[in-house]
Amino acid sequence: MMVNDTYHRPVAIANALRYDRHVEIVWDDGETSRFHHVWLRDNCQCRTCHDEFSHQKMVWLSAIPRNIAPAEVGFDSEGLTIVWNQDRHPSRYRAGWLRANCYSERGRAERRFHPTLWTAATIEGRAEMDYREATATEEAELRMLETVRDYGFVLLRNVPVEPAETEKIGRLFGYPTETNWGTVFDIRAEPEAINIANTGQPIAPHTDDSFRYASPGIELFHCLEANQNQGGLSLLVDGFQLGECMREEDPEAFHLVSQFACPQFALDRDTELRSRGKVFTLHDDQIVGVRYCECTQAPLDLPEHLIEPYYDALRVLAGMVQRDDLVFRFRLGPGDTLVFDNQRVLHGRTAYDGAGVRRHLRNTMMHRDGFHSRLRILGMKFGRPDVNRVLPLGAGW
Ligand SMILES: [Fe+2]
Repeated sequence: MMVNDTYHRPVAIANALRYDRHVEIVWDDGETSRFHHVWLRDNCQCRTCHDEFSHQKMVWLSAIPRNIAPAEVGFDSEGLTIVWNQDRHPSRYRAGWLRANCYSERGRAERRFHPTLWTAATIEGRAEMDYREATATEEAELRMLETVRDYGFVLLRNVPVEPAETEKIGRLFGYPTETNWGTVFDIRAEPEAINIANTGQPIAPHTDDSFRYASPGIELFHCLEANQNQGGLSLLVDGFQLGECMREEDPEAFHLVSQFACPQFALDRDTELRSRGKVFTLHDDQIVGVRYCECTQAPLDLPEHLIEPYYDALRVLAGMVQRDDLVFRFRLGPGDTLVFDNQRVLHGRTAYDGAGVRRHLRNTMMHRDGFHSRLRILGMKFGRPDVNRVLPLGAGW
């Protein structure tokens, strides 16, 4: 079995028509798909061309003539058969596999992922789960992962207040990754902190470690201790919603921050990290990643005529990430864990008295591909119809 293996409902081929450059499949539900000869030859699913164990492709494009064409096209209830004119090689494709990989406009639109955008008014209570229930079965775990996929975060309650639990939770979402902070990073107020996370200062909503080429995909804050006074409230902003608001309210500003890089950097005794990513990464005009952190911003490096407009755009953004309608506020207490997509959801906190208050969070980071892998593996196991959706690749360049 492999990803994109089967369409999410049974389909059969009603007809297969041979054209000059492609084969047109008419499906039994009335839809049609066109597959180019070169695509079909390149994706031959036979055991000579496609290794059944590694799922690696063993057919080389250099061995396929540009004008490859079928000598014969046939179909039956199971799928499509082609015999190629070049070498009489017989290719076989299962109907469900073909339909799952159909690249018609409709097929591609069907695979498009639609995140559930949220605002402060719509998110309350929607992405909250009891940790024991969420991890009781694999299917419950899948629902927890789907919550992060759809909303960009999940708030887990009743998590053991044990330092060892941090990495265990991380492993449910991928592979806790070692960075210059270590694999697990303690966040608490400390003197001479090298990261303002470790002070009591307020932190405006941002994405973490935006100065890495690959900023953290999934991150978690496992709360062991927290203050009970009015400070240290957690803030979340749906970065995809933020981007859509900006696109609508100030298209020029949105254009600038999604077309030109806002450099980021981090510097301490042993580390000097730099990135140059756009604030919003677009794919087919859809926002698929966010990289925004004012406190790690490096000097802008743009053509002269863009400096002032870009500052104006950043000013718009800085105002928007503090807007009451976009910021979801909640208290993260001992036993709570916030797991979030750091390339979608911005997080921050209100100030607290770093000297007088005990607040201890533990943090770990996972790459988003490991998270998506687990989503797909569990999704296939439980027959989810949406397992072939093209999930947001995250913050790029
Ligand atoms: Fe942060």
